[in-house]
Amino acid sequence: MHFSLSSAVVSICLASSIPQCLSLWHFRKHFLGTGALAMSSTILRRYRNLSTAAFVVGRSYCSTTGRSSLFSRISPLGDPSISLVPVLDDWVQQGNTVNPFDLHRVVKDLRSRRRFTQALQVSEWMSSKGVYPFSAGDRAVQLDLIGKVRGLEIAESYFQNLSENDKTNKLHGALLNCYVREGLVDKSLSLLQKIKDMGFASALNYNSIMCLYTQTDQLEKVPDVMKLMKEDGVSPDIFSYRICINSYGARSDLVNMEKLLDEMESQSHIVTDWDTYSMVANFYIKAGLKEKALISLEKCEDKADKRNVLAYNYLISQYASLGNKKTMMRLWEHQKANCKKQLNREYIIMLSCLVKVGEFDQAEKVLEEWQLSGNCYDFRVPNTLLIGYSQRGLIEKAETLLQSIVEKGKTPIPNSWSIIASGYVAEENMEKAFQCMKNAVAVVDQNKGWKPKPNIISSILSWAANNKDLDEVEDLINLLRTVIPMNRNMYLYLIKAYVRCGKEVDGILESMKADNIGVDEEIEKILSSGSQQ
Ligand SMILES: *[C@@H]1O[C@H](CO)[C@@H](O)[C@H](O)[C@H]1NC(C)=O
Ligand SMILES: *[C@@H]1O[C@H](CO)[C@@H](O)[C@H](O)[C@H]1NC(C)=O
Repeated sequence: MHFSLSSAVVSICLASSIPQCLSLWHFRKHFLGTGALAMSSTILRRYRNLSTAAFVVGRSYCSTTGRSSLFSRISPLGDPSISLVPVLDDWVQQGNTVNPFDLHRVVKDLRSRRRFTQALQVSEWMSSKGVYPFSAGDRAVQLDLIGKVRGLEIAESYFQNLSENDKTNKLHGALLNCYVREGLVDKSLSLLQKIKDMGFASALNYNSIMCLYTQTDQLEKVPDVMKLMKEDGVSPDIFSYRICINSYGARSDLVNMEKLLDEMESQSHIVTDWDTYSMVANFYIKAGLKEKALISLEKCEDKADKRNVLAYNYLISQYASLGNKKTMMRLWEHQKANCKKQLNREYIIMLSCLVKVGEFDQAEKVLEEWQLSGNCYDFRVPNTLLIGYSQRGLIEKAETLLQSIVEKGKTPIPNSWSIIASGYVAEENMEKAFQCMKNAVAVVDQNKGWKPKPNIISSILSWAANNKDLDEVEDLINLLRTVIPMNRNMYLYLIKAYVRCGKEVDGILESMKADNIGVDEEIEKILSSGSQQ
């Protein structure tokens, strides 16, 4: 039984990792809201960050079976410089059994967390022992990992070294994906041709080529691949349709997008899923076609599993961008009724959507629900509301809210105070901005990595240099320099405050020199205005 399960795992894991452009959709759909189509590497990175940092880590290794202990041993070793080989060896030496199913799950999981080096270690450990069955799927995964970790040349050499028997369709497919990942159009196409000549081209291979064109900004070529695969007698699968529909939508060719969607809906072997409708809805929203967008969103809701929290997040975001408050609230109630638990992520999305449509009272209520939810107190949740208030110029409300949280005994992260400081800077209420920035720096222990925005610091210091007592200016700068190194503007305003109070600046000029910051024209002017007085 293990073996059939494990090969299923392998094929899922191959299929899911291969079309990279599909992951982008997932990101776009769930987290970007209004169909932002930029397939930029930043988005991809952020998607990865979100998936690895915030969400996937939240998924526990503690499964219901006793088998979980190998995972739980490996899971915390997130530092990529830690080799898993001795961990596996120790595990076996301690008399534990390892079955292929466990190893497959470890590899799959490490890949989904983008811990590719470690995934490759486990895969190679498994193949080198010679005691575990190593299927074509396992080998394809290994090739994929080699491509990612050691680069294309090594992957090609690995492939060349395989016996002809081992060069199966899966291995060719994995090699094709190495080419696709590198954006190598010619190599990809000639490999596809070779796969076709060998008579085992599958939808997956054509999808790879469609992804290649998507990634290399040649969207207009995607439908040709779709056409080609049909001519070659390979029926498009759900991914083929999605990639091709995306290519039309991204080129604002909504007529052909609709045609292809119709075709997809008419295929008996394909169930058009909520992902596809969400993608189509995004294109309608982007094109300003609200009515059509609403129809797609309804289909989307209809197709999504009632317990799919990501679908709710997506739908709520889309209805927020259409300004549809009633539906947002209806979906939120459904979400709470159908999904076991709302994570902080869900609260953040709901709060930012409520803020977007200006429903602040409702947002305060959701924030209260969150405070009672027993979720870990992550200040990014209330910050969503603080940002919303300050963007609408309701900065006093933001401060009142934060004060009330502080009174309940919570210590904010510096960014909470700095959001409010920025809001006061925008209103030119500089006394308040000054105090809030002081509060922000005072709680830096809550987030040691926090860096204040340089333009906000400059505005506040520029005002303080003319308006605050010298010791207060010095205090703030001394606090700031524990967070960021002294920069030219900090020196400039410190000198200004000194000169204003008729104090000697020699000491400051010396440390400026030590910090390698020169006296420029503006500073010179301040200094000479001081000596004239
Ligand atoms: C992703 O995370 C890394 C470190 O965790 C960070 O340096 C990088 O800026 C993040 N990227 C994005 C796009 O958020
Ligand atoms: C392929 O075989 C050659 C010759 O035996 C060897 O030098 C090379 O390291 C092998 N490549 C890989 C990736 O194993």
